[in-house]
Amino acid sequence: MKKLCQLYEGKAKKVYATDDPELLIVSYKDDATAFNGLKKGTIKGKGVINNQMSNRLMARLATMGIPNHFVEELSERETLVRRVEIVPLEVIVRNIAAGSFSKRYGVEEGVVFDEPTIEYSYKNDALGDPLLNTSHALALGIATEQEIETIQTYALAVNHFLRTFWEEVGVTLVDFKLEFGRTSDGTIILADEISPDTCRLWDTATGEKLDKDRFRRDMGGVENAYQEIMRRLETHS
Ligand code: TMP
Repeated sequence: MKKLCQLYEGKAKKVYATDDPELLIVSYKDDATAFNGLKKGTIKGKGVINNQMSNRLMARLATMGIPNHFVEELSERETLVRRVEIVPLEVIVRNIAAGSFSKRYGVEEGVVFDEPTIEYSYKNDALGDPLLNTSHALALGIATEQEIETIQTYALAVNHFLRTFWEEVGVTLVDFKLEFGRTSDGTIILADEISPDTCRLWDTATGEKLDKDRFRRDMGGVENAYQEIMRRLETHS
């Protein structure tokens, strides 16, 4: 597989074309941003961890019937993925109140929901990724009703898998963000990444945060938290 020109540089990844029009190469950076790019920094080794973690989880999800973009890990930071047109929705699933949910609704962090919640943001940096409901998504032509239904079904199935997976290594999955894309034939598949950048992961025994909130909230110990969550992943059978 030949790596061709860079197509795009995002906040945490670069994307390259390949000699196969259906395949792209993503390269994970150590760059970290928060609050729509307002806060900038580096988390040393993050790119390697996010690449490896996301690939391991995506590979497992594929075997559970959740189609996704993962094809092959090429190196520590680079992965071959299926080319998709990203659906501009941030799909957020929550099991426990935290972050923007706690702030918006005045609910203390740590309150456990009876059932997981799902919400959508319009993936649009210029607008600050505003929250939107499914009828807004339809009105904006972001996705069809059937696509939204598929996305919701997959997102909740991902939650079910990830919760159990992390539970088995003493980690509580608080919430996470997913992105989906359309392949050239219009099939919806899971894309982007699943990593400590995009999930809240708390040590079940101590409540310690093992994710990007340590960076967002200037808590220190960011690199150690990423290393610890990777170590937990590696202990999983
Ligand atoms: P929130 O509570 O700030 O809305 O975040 C919910 C989840 O989504 C949390 O696990 C972090 C993740 N997330 C992203 O992956 N990207 C983002 O831009 C934001 C705001 C949150």
